[in-house]
Amino acid sequence: MGEFKNIVVNGKIDAYIRSQTAPQLPAQRKLVERTHALGDLAEMQIPHEQGMLLTLLVKILAAELVVEVGTFTGYSGLSLALGLAAGGKVITLDRSEEWLDLASEAWQEAGVAELIEFRLGPARESLFALPDSPEIDLAFIDADKVGYIDYWEQLVPRLRAGGLILADNVLYRGEAADDNATGNARAIREFNDHVLADRRVESVLLPVADGLTIARKRTR
Ligand SMILES: C[S@@+](CC[C@H](N)C(=O)[O-])C[C@H]1O[C@@H](n2cnc3c(N)ncnc32)[C@H](O)[C@@H]1O
Repeated sequence: MGEFKNIVVNGKIDAYIRSQTAPQLPAQRKLVERTHALGDLAEMQIPHEQGMLLTLLVKILAAELVVEVGTFTGYSGLSLALGLAAGGKVITLDRSEEWLDLASEAWQEAGVAELIEFRLGPARESLFALPDSPEIDLAFIDADKVGYIDYWEQLVPRLRAGGLILADNVLYRGEAADDNATGNARAIREFNDHVLADRRVESVLLPVADGLTIARKRTR
């Protein structure tokens, strides 16, 4: 009884979820429209309710240092920055600056541009260049799926005790649940197993958008 509580979210329910989430800022709405104009690529952008969840988690932690892997057009970076405590910053990493103008414009418009530092290059190298000290309050991984375990391994030691590490697309359109998954879905499956076996954190995998893992670094 109560084994399958999760519902299948169709378009109508999806729209309802969005309508019952705190409204987007004009800068967020505009960024969604501009990203949409990029065509199929736009599906890389996190949806508004996930952005709101990121903002809330950053606020709950009173986070001062947030690291994001995968900037794209900046929606998630903006959501993270909106939650920062006074004096806080988001460091966001991407190997491409193709969409940086779109991101910067939205960050300016929302009044958070000064709080966001973009670092260009392969995430593996940008993460390696971060200080070793455990001072990150929250990290969000949303880039190439085959890199997730590497990013996780670089981020968890740099996370403060009690800090959160989040990973996006952990259901990979549902394909990650398939024993015979291949390609990116296989990489995500291996990542999910890696997270579950990691005693440094306690975690939950949630059906938020394309699947979101939220893990907290243990305090003891
Ligand atoms: C799914 S998108 C990120 C979406 C973004 N979080 C948002 O909500 O708008 C993935 C991003 O990761 C970047 N990326 C992919 N592989 C990367 C790598 N090895 N190093 C750094 N960035 C990478 C891509 O250029 C792309 O912008």
